[in-house]
Amino acid sequence: MNRETPDARSRLAVALDLSDRTALLAMARLLAPEAGVLKVGLEAFVAEGPTLVRDLVASGADVFLDLKLHDIPNTVSRAAAAAVRTGASVVNCHALGGAEMMKAFGEGARSAAAKAGLDAPKLIAVTILTSLDAAAVRAVGLGGSPREAALRLAILAKESGLDGVVCSPEEIETIRAALGGDFLLVVPGVRPRSGAAGDQRRVATPADAIRAGADLLVVGRPITAASDPAAAARAIVAEIAAAR
Ligand code: C5P
Repeated sequence: MNRETPDARSRLAVALDLSDRTALLAMARLLAPEAGVLKVGLEAFVAEGPTLVRDLVASGADVFLDLKLHDIPNTVSRAAAAAVRTGASVVNCHALGGAEMMKAFGEGARSAAAKAGLDAPKLIAVTILTSLDAAAVRAVGLGGSPREAALRLAILAKESGLDGVVCSPEEIETIRAALGGDFLLVVPGVRPRSGAAGDQRRVATPADAIRAGADLLVVGRPITAASDPAAAARAIVAEIAAAR
């Protein structure tokens, strides 16, 4: 995830959105050599729980535990602590939970890591889901464009002491310019040129997202639903390497 790293693989997180433990672990084994980060999201976590995350960490993987926590500060602080105890390298919450919630998220996570003798994980906040377009953002009552809303939330996340945000490809340049080179930008909604967008609305190619300033690209179905997932991941890593 280091922007200066020579290893393009470390810039790819594969979303392992599968609910079957055996299938997920097989996909993880196949993709671990190709991608720097394996992402466990709600589908897999609700089905298989923290044991699955611990098993992936024990296999040597860097795991992004994508739970998008969003609740009152006390609950989020405790859930963040439990998430960190799985050994995940990246954990997240929703910026829409507000500044107090994000501060509680950071404090809960960092103190749990210190108590467990773990490296502090990267703590990030989701700004606006990449599946929401401008009309959907207006419909939930947020003012301004998705880009303006995402920038406001990213500033709030930084002020709340978090390491970075999840944002769509369309917001990378704006947030990077406002918040500087050290703020981690994790970007889903990434589609290889030939891929279908699915339910993602604000999308870009891997090369465009990297050139715009993304640190870590999150890609799920274009890899996991491909006939040859390892080859699909390798093609994206090659695109990342060529873009830098
Ligand atoms: O299959 P696809 O490439 O669309 O997967 C994207 C992944 O990124 C999913 O696991 C989704 O939950 C996650 N994500 C997202 N938009 C966000 C935050 C996370 O699509 N804002």
